[in-house]
Amino acid sequence: MNTMDFSAFDFSNRHVFVAGGSSGINFGIAQAFARAGAKLTVISRSADKVASAARQLEALGTQALGLSADVRQPQALEQAFATATERFGPIDVLVSGAAGNFLASALDMSPNAFKTVVDIDLLGSFNVARIAHAHLRKPGSCVIQISAGQAFIPTPFQAHVCAAKAGVDMLTQVLALEWGAQGVRINSIVPGPIADTEGLKRLAPTGDTLDAMANRVPLKRLGRIDDIARMALLLASDWGSYITGAIIPVDGGFALTGPRDFTAAAAASKRAHA
Ligand code: HXC
Ligand code: NAP
Repeated sequence: MNTMDFSAFDFSNRHVFVAGGSSGINFGIAQAFARAGAKLTVISRSADKVASAARQLEALGTQALGLSADVRQPQALEQAFATATERFGPIDVLVSGAAGNFLASALDMSPNAFKTVVDIDLLGSFNVARIAHAHLRKPGSCVIQISAGQAFIPTPFQAHVCAAKAGVDMLTQVLALEWGAQGVRINSIVPGPIADTEGLKRLAPTGDTLDAMANRVPLKRLGRIDDIARMALLLASDWGSYITGAIIPVDGGFALTGPRDFTAAAAASKRAHA
């Protein structure tokens, strides 16, 4: 390969499967792959959301399938992967980003509240990767996990997400070791605070908290969904062919600024939940 060959970003006839792909960052990644020619499968819990996502992806001129499945339910995932690969063939790129979050102190979190986020983010990522494995193109496929800075920055009001995403990044590294010889690469992208997303809305619910967050980012702006999508394309392309087991922040330097203070946002969120 010519190392400056931009055809590396042509994903025509490749199958990209996005778990949690019906909205936000993950949907933006799906759109970027669709624009690059890939055939897309997106899954999430809501049948309406996946149907709408598939329609929007097809409007970009490619084929797309939207399937309702909860990453906490292995049988539903088995069915989704079987249906998707029957339609589009083996999976070239798996993006795994289903997640849930809310602000609550550990003492305000019931065991089920903690378990719910661990089940979606961590056990769900394990389920997706483990069940996808039989359907991945080998050699030559790429798995991209969507993590968060909470994985390595201890963050008050985020005990569940910190524990879950730390596990996701460790899973990335273990699977890189176990699957490398089969020609399957796996990496984590760690997005910073990304504008116009559900995740950021939950952590910075007011204009003031949003401005404070943006100002704290060394590059002095919130991230854009496209910032994350570009890294996903790079990792999946031949340009990323020697990258595996990496935990890659795409965050304008945000992770360097240490633990966040969500005290005010958590108080507002607690009132809303009560
Ligand atoms: C305390 C809460 C709570 C809150 C829910 N719970 N919200 N506890 N404070 N604000 C508790 C419930 O009371 C219940 O415990 C348990 O959590 C499960 O709640 P359910 O509503 O039954 O769960 P479920 O329907 O499975 O929904 C999961 C969810 C929900 C995570 C709670 O918010 C969701 O579906 N989220 C998906 C969208 C999302 O969160 N997107 C953001 C991703 S961003 P009990 O004991 O009462 O049974 C992200 C972080 C990245 O992941 C960082 C961003 C910068
Ligand atoms: P989002 O729009 O809420 O995306 C979450 C997606 O996961 C949705 O499509 C949701 O659809 C799906 N989902 C949730 N629970 C699921 C389950 N049990 N099974 C299957 N699908 C499920 O949030 P976002 O902010 O874009 O976050 C996307 C990813 O980026 C997450 O992994 C998040 O942790 C990470 N991240 C976000 C930010 C940020 O600033 N937003 C920062 C760092 C990391 P359904 O409701 O239909 O299930």
